[in-house]
Parts: sequence; structure tokens; C-alpha cells
Amino acid sequence: MAAGPDVVTEALADIHRRLGALDEGEPAAYIPELARARREGFGLALVSMDGHRYQAGDAAEPFTLQSVSKPFVYALALAELGLDEVGRWVGAEPSGEAFNAISLEQGTGRPSNAMINAGAIATTALVPGATPAERFERILAGLSAFAGRRLDVDAAVHASEAATGDRNRALAYLMRGAGSLACDPLAATDLYFRQCAVRATAADLAVMAATLGNGGVNPVTGERVVGERVAVQVLSVMATCGMYDASGEWLLRVGLPAKSGVSGGLIAVSPARFGAACWSPPLDRSGNPVRGTAALRELSERFGLHLM
Ligand code: DON
Repeated sequence: MAAGPDVVTEALADIHRRLGALDEGEPAAYIPELARARREGFGLALVSMDGHRYQAGDAAEPFTLQSVSKPFVYALALAELGLDEVGRWVGAEPSGEAFNAISLEQGTGRPSNAMINAGAIATTALVPGATPAERFERILAGLSAFAGRRLDVDAAVHASEAATGDRNRALAYLMRGAGSLACDPLAATDLYFRQCAVRATAADLAVMAATLGNGGVNPVTGERVVGERVAVQVLSVMATCGMYDASGEWLLRVGLPAKSGVSGGLIAVSPARFGAACWSPPLDRSGNPVRGTAALRELSERFGLHLM
């Protein structure tokens, strides 16, 4: 984006103002605590590679990461184990199915990719540590390094998902039965529920996205969080799988690696330029945020960001 700071600030304010009137979709309700979200809450944020931060609306309001955690935990697993070992447990093909589908490879039981629930649970199961607490601390420390500040867990959302997450436990047991889950199913799903309940703001998410776009170096803190190769691997999977069964349409119209979450968070990365994030709880039928999708599409068109 060759645009100067004032142009970016004005573009975010304008997009925020106009899309605030877009009142479609519904906040997720299958995790009861998420149904309490403020449907009019709407924040936009953008961080450039020189660490300049822009925002509009409710960019400082916290919400839980949910699936937006998946690319970052995938990055941590890749950094620990490398692509070949991680690839033994989780694939890199779009599933063309919903985020909670049983998309397991025939024969191996390996989930299609790390962006759907099954693949994310398999990825979380790879994070090393002597105890569950140590493993979660590794995840939280990693997510915090991406954000550039210490994040925390929303205990109410964690408890709500733990009380209702039987489908994810079932996915974990299916994978364990097929030999494609590296640890106990209940341990893996509890870690996964905790990572999904980590709380951040749109402003944090934009820094996290920018870190991936900056080859793994946080552009605000200067800390190297993961290697450049890992950042490229994560962006590749986000580009093909980050928006679930709407990933093809997203790449066609927006043209940026992205990841959505059911709490209404959405990140998109313009490699070597910026990380962008949106928060707005109402979701479309694929489970992607309605305003976030429209906002990123506008930003991409306005600044000619499509990668192709
Ligand atoms: O596992 C779940 O269902 C949630 N914790 C996360 C799902 C999610 O965010 C899907 N994204 N659109």
C-alpha cells in the first residue's frame, strides 16, 4: 500500500462508518457465552511493517480468538517440529467443508488442514510440554509474543465451550482411533478450548497478523516470534483454507491470506505491507464475520491489495 498515514486513517474511518449500517448475520450461539456478544460492536485495525498502528471503532474491545488462534498455534508447532513432522499429523488441503466437519483423510485419518477444528485439535496436540499447564503456557506465551503483550483467557467462554464441546471431543476421539492424534483426546480438546478462549482486541489481532506478514518478526516489539519460512508456510495455508468453504470465493474477491473466528474476529495479511483485523460478531452461513468480510474486501479493492 503506497498510501500515506492520513489516507489509511481516513479509509478505515470511512469503511467503519459505512459498514456500521450493515446489519446482517447472527452471532454464534452454539457456544452459549458467545451469544451474549454485542452485535453492533465493530472494530477495525491495521499495522504496517514499520509498526505504525491505525484503528477505527471498537478496536480496543476484547473478545476471544476462537479460530483466529489456529494459524498462530500452527506456527508454534511448525517452529518446534518443522513442516515434515507436523505434516505427518495434519494436511494442507482445503476441505471445502464447514469448520466443524469430519474432514479426515481416507486411510490415515489425518485432518485436511490446520484451520478446521479437527486439524487445529491435531496441531494443538503437538505442542510440547511436561504437563497440561506447561503446554498451555507455551501456547499463551507464543500468542502473546505475536500480539506484543501478555494475553489472558476468558474463563467464562472457556467454561461455556468445555460444557458444550462434545462435537470437538468426538472429532478428537475419531482421530485418536485412527492414530492421527498425538495425545489423549480430552487433554487435546481442553488445551484447544483454552487457546480458543484467549482474549485479544482487534488492535492486538492486527499486530499478530502483521507479525506473520513481516516474516515472523513482530513489527511493534521487534521480537522474532517464528522463522521466516514458518511465517510463509502459515500464510500459504491461510490463503487456501482460512475462510473454510468460502476460501475460494475469498481468495477470488479479496486475494489475501486470512483467518476468521466464530466470535467475530478476522485477520488478513498483505505480506511485507501490513496486517489487518476486524471484530464484529454477526456471522454468515459459513461462520465468517459479515462486516469483517465486507471491510477487508473494500480495503483490498481500494488499495489494490489482491496478491494475484
Ligand atoms: O471449536 C470451535 O467450534 C470454536 N472454538 C472455534 C470455531 C471457529 O472459530 C470457527 N470459525 N469461524
